[in-house]
Amino acid sequence: MKAVVFHGVGDIRLDEVPDPTLQDDEDAIVRLTASAICGTDLHFVRGTMAGMRSGTILGHEGVGVVEELGSLVRNFEPGDRVVVCSTIGCGACSYCRAGYYAQCDRANPNGSQAGTAFFGGPEATGSFDGLQAERARIPFAHTGLVALPDEVCDEQAILLSDIFPTGYFGAELAEVSNGDTVVVFGAGPVGVFAVLSARMLGAGRVICVDQHQDRLAMARRAGAETIDFSAEDPIDCIRELTGGIGPDRAIDAVGVDAERAHEGPAAGRTETDEEQFAAEVGEVAPEQAHNDGHWRPGDAPSMVLRWAVRSLAKAGTLAIIGVYPPQAKAFPIGEAMNKNLTLKMGNCNHRRYVPELIELVRAGAVDPQVVLTQLEGPRAAIEAYEAFDLRRPGWIKVELEPAA
Ligand SMILES: NC(=O)c1ccc[n+]([C@@H]2O[C@H](COP(=O)([O-])OP(=O)(O)OC[C@H]3O[C@@H](n4cnc5c(N)ncnc54)[C@H](O)[C@@H]3O)[C@@H](O)[C@H]2O)c1
Ligand SMILES: [Zn+2]
Ligand SMILES: [Zn+2]
Repeated sequence: MKAVVFHGVGDIRLDEVPDPTLQDDEDAIVRLTASAICGTDLHFVRGTMAGMRSGTILGHEGVGVVEELGSLVRNFEPGDRVVVCSTIGCGACSYCRAGYYAQCDRANPNGSQAGTAFFGGPEATGSFDGLQAERARIPFAHTGLVALPDEVCDEQAILLSDIFPTGYFGAELAEVSNGDTVVVFGAGPVGVFAVLSARMLGAGRVICVDQHQDRLAMARRAGAETIDFSAEDPIDCIRELTGGIGPDRAIDAVGVDAERAHEGPAAGRTETDEEQFAAEVGEVAPEQAHNDGHWRPGDAPSMVLRWAVRSLAKAGTLAIIGVYPPQAKAFPIGEAMNKNLTLKMGNCNHRRYVPELIELVRAGAVDPQVVLTQLEGPRAAIEAYEAFDLRRPGWIKVELEPAA
């Protein structure tokens, strides 16, 4: 079968690989009808999330049809349409039972303290082969697969595999409630779903910060007031928009590949930190392989953390859903402490949110397709990665059709 395979930092290829087989009684084999590229995949290829084993199939977003089932998967039949949860949880341990699927005790082969297990990730996450392929092996399939009703099409369902639940998780972590003013950093797919989710949880106003016009326009369509950090100083502008008080809640939907402003009034202010940012990049991305401008890590890993802490109202809440590797150390702890901020963060517990979000989409209460802009067959998979990496206008969320 065809699959997108990681060979090294800056080196991914569409390869012919063997079909997956059942390895455990709790496994299923799913034939994927849709997959997608996530901002997290870019961290791997840019080298800002290190430790990928060469030969790992990429991708942790998938929709498909069940083909084979192990003897302990009792809730599906071959032919069922399903969405695959990005993170892998066993469904049996105390963490899974409490809804912390991303901290499952049993799914990560590196042990109970190793952290989140997910498809197509680094060695520390289990080196599970991912979903940018024609078929995939799904461990603990009774828990990781969720049945799809006919009314929810693949284009909607692929957004329910990772990014919609993640945005929702971010709004919930941020403790968004009725009337809150929320700022979301990043208007990528995850940021836009955080905007949408904050509104679902009752936010009075949502402000979204990015520097790409097409992405900011998408955030406005999702209901946000927008700020271009290359044209205005985001801190000053957030303060002005919020009566000098600041937002109650902030969501970091950018992560380690954050960039600082290179134009506009914010450029002058962050300039002084250039040396420290360079040291941070060295810390998080010891190995880089950018060529022709592709796969370049962000130049200011802690930029969003600093902006979020600075802009929040006193006693506000910061939710971090943008991904940072274990080596990342920079965070403005003193400033956060002295403002009585609450900090919450982590990898999404997908399985906790996917069933109810499917219901909302089926009922027509939300349409996640506001975000998906490009449909690509498998032959164009690598070019799709390149376009998404460069944030080309319009390339906001890329769906791949593995079986096309
Ligand atoms: N916690 C989780 O479970 C989880 C799940 C999925 C994705 N993620 C993470 O969410 C993040 C976003 O994912 P995505 O797919 O939307 O990625 P993306 O790369 O498409 O979007 C990131 C956006 O951030 C913007 N940005 C860069 N620097 C900024 C700054 N200083 N201020 C404001 N915006 C800035 C970029 O212009 C871009 O539009 C990534 O870090 C990804 O790894 C986390
Ligand atoms: Zn993802
Ligand atoms: Zn578990």
